Amino acid sequence: METIRIEDAPHFVGEKVRLGAWLRNKRGSNKMQFLQLRDGTAFFQGVASKEEVGEETFAKIKALTQETSMYLVGTIRQDDRSPFGYEMDVEDVTVVGESEGYPITPKEHGTDFLMDHRHLYLRHIQPFAVLRIRNTLIAATYEFFNKEGFIKIDSPLLTSSAPEGTTELFHTEYFDTDAYLSQTGQLYAEAGAMAFGKVFTFGPTFRAEKSKTRRHLTEFWMIEPEMAWMHQDESLEVQERYIAYLIQAVLDRNDYELGLLGRDKELLKSYTQLPYPRMSYDDAIKLLQDNDFDVEWGVDFGSPEETFLANHFNKPVFITNFPKAIKAFYMKRDDERDDIVISADLLAPEGYGEIIGGSERDTDYDYLESRIKEMGLNVDDYQWYLDLRKYGSVPHSGFGLGLERMVTWVTGEEHIREAIPFPRTMNRLKP
Ligand code: 4AD
Ligand code: MG
Repeated sequence: METIRIEDAPHFVGEKVRLGAWLRNKRGSNKMQFLQLRDGTAFFQGVASKEEVGEETFAKIKALTQETSMYLVGTIRQDDRSPFGYEMDVEDVTVVGESEGYPITPKEHGTDFLMDHRHLYLRHIQPFAVLRIRNTLIAATYEFFNKEGFIKIDSPLLTSSAPEGTTELFHTEYFDTDAYLSQTGQLYAEAGAMAFGKVFTFGPTFRAEKSKTRRHLTEFWMIEPEMAWMHQDESLEVQERYIAYLIQAVLDRNDYELGLLGRDKELLKSYTQLPYPRMSYDDAIKLLQDNDFDVEWGVDFGSPEETFLANHFNKPVFITNFPKAIKAFYMKRDDERDDIVISADLLAPEGYGEIIGGSERDTDYDYLESRIKEMGLNVDDYQWYLDLRKYGSVPHSGFGLGLERMVTWVTGEEHIREAIPFPRTMNRLKP
């Protein structure tokens, strides 16, 4: 008899198998028990009838409690009425680990309660589906960049610099000096691009965001590709190819999970169609003003503006060439205008907002040095970065995708805390 996993059930129809599973829930009568089972690969039902299993086993099955772990022996049967399409006719059950008083009962629970029990809530349908899709996005990221000739370089998490601004820094002591948790791997990726041509970093980043929005975490994972000998136009093409690749990977590999979440697959499919529209910041401001938004040239977009812009196109849209004053020091100046930089944010539709931020990087030593000073940063901390402009500086561009923003959008979740196994937000450091 084979020991299988639930996802393999379709290959064992009519066969007697053994599987290890947890009990999610059960219902039934004195004659039949319906066991809702899960094993980490899928959810399905085991059916036990007293007539088949006998008094003693039936009594044992009837006494099973939520989240008890067990081995089950039984025959796999196709069942088109059940969501998974297959069931097990149970013959025997051996309890492995008992479970008394499991806190997440089948009734409705509030978000705080579920997040306080995140270590257990991971077992439930919604986190299961979302985090398996996250896993696909991670795997597909490595595939995409390997195929496109990038190498991964790892950037440090303890740093002395604050490239994305000083207001959102986590500070820590580092022996007898100060250190910060990394806000971005980008500066190190730029050093990598000068050594390896095309690189990407992929790691946790930290922002002491005091905002309690549904898009902000204090610890999130970012993918930051950086490409030497590349201007911004070509970088935008890499970005849209990458996003389309990720979405296609989820459509190909997570049909079951998208179904569990009730996500519209046709809509997702439409996002694989390239190119994505590009609209300048100038035009975006005009469009917003024409639609009664109270915005002036120079402001950063908030959530309502981003939502409007992406919904206007019904697909992801690049907003290009933002005002210099609201962007990071390293972004390349425009040749003709001093007030904008060669940058783009990719906004996702359906209200998910900015998922990518990127730019061409300025290559001029003196300009960057003056920008670092203007931003109130310490030039000493950036001397190594300025070296990159001193020894064979070349045009280069890059971008950063927030993994959890991407997961939230693809899965259609309301809140970014669902997109990471153990979310860190302003008021959550546990579990
Ligand atoms: O736009 P950001 O700040 O850009 C950078 O950090 C650049 N160094 C990237 C680069 O050019 N290499 O952040 C990039 C992305 C955002 O578009 C968003 O998806 C995500 O990171 N992000 C966050 N995700 C979750 N919580 C937060 N607090 C985030 N802040 C940014
Ligand atoms: Mg940004």
